[in-house]
Amino acid sequence: MTDLKAFRVEYQARINQYLDDALASQHFSSAITASGNALLQAMRYSLLDGGKRIRPILAYAAAHAVSEPNTTTDALASAVECIHAYSLIHDDLPAMDDDDLRRGKPTCHIAFDEASAILAGDALQCFAFESIINANIPADQALQALKVLAKASGINGMVLGQAIDLSSVDKALPLDELQQMHGFKTGALIQASVALGGISVSATQEQQQQLRHYADAIGLAFQVQDDIIDVTSDTHTLGKQQGSDAIRNKPTYVSLLGLQGARTRADELVTHAVESLDTFGDGANYLRELAHYIVNRDH
Ligand code: IPE
Ligand code: IPE
Ligand code: MG
Ligand code: MG
Ligand code: MG
Repeated sequence: MTDLKAFRVEYQARINQYLDDALASQHFSSAITASGNALLQAMRYSLLDGGKRIRPILAYAAAHAVSEPNTTTDALASAVECIHAYSLIHDDLPAMDDDDLRRGKPTCHIAFDEASAILAGDALQCFAFESIINANIPADQALQALKVLAKASGINGMVLGQAIDLSSVDKALPLDELQQMHGFKTGALIQASVALGGISVSATQEQQQQLRHYADAIGLAFQVQDDIIDVTSDTHTLGKQQGSDAIRNKPTYVSLLGLQGARTRADELVTHAVESLDTFGDGANYLRELAHYIVNRDH
């Protein structure tokens, strides 16, 4: 029997401390202190206070499926959360989703200003890669991790997905194109989180492949559920504006398949994800339970 709640609480605390320490270790020479600290403040605002930390938790759970999370897992989990935090800051900007609320607080560009939010996102992106580079990891393992994270973040991953998302406003995408968009904008970083967890404990090629199948399914399921709760949850619970997709006329799983159709799809993906872990033992139970958590969450 595994206790996912306890696992989440333990590893949320662990990653929060790691991220806090990483930002606290940044110091500036006196001539640039004011600008450096202002930028750091915006980064801290969006990185440290809130968030489910689902990507780090997936990395820790993937490491747990293979052996035990270690300090390399911390560094890689931190890297993917920094990319995620940057993606949210930019996602909320007026030129993108134009949202005012995130994690129950004013979005970064509201709390600071647009330029600060853009720069905080930029800096967090580089900080992510530095987290891997500076972590005292063997060079081949670090390179493997950098490749995975760079691909999932950029033109072949999250940023491409965001570009498709923005060019799809007011369109009813066919299901296969919607699925592709979700796979890039959200699935890629979820996929990377699981892969990085595996890399941190030197998973075999075969283990990595099974983890990839699992992550493909839950990556998609994660965004299907994000679309569902945009309709079914409320602003207070979500910590972000309920109905934001409909306001902006975004194509979503719900707009295309209806609520029930989206729920059915999410459940199918969970079944598929769990089946992908058949050859893993009980160590993968947290991953199995996380698949269910992802489609049952209300925020
Ligand atoms: C929200 O991600 C954006 C998507 C990619 C769907 P999360 O739901 O993981 O947001 P936080 O980190 O918990 O705030
Ligand atoms: C965001 O998708 C995906 C990212 C790459 C940040 P959404 O635009 O649906 O995320 P929320 O609903 O604002 O968190
Ligand atoms: Mg968006
Ligand atoms: Mg958004
Ligand atoms: Mg959304």
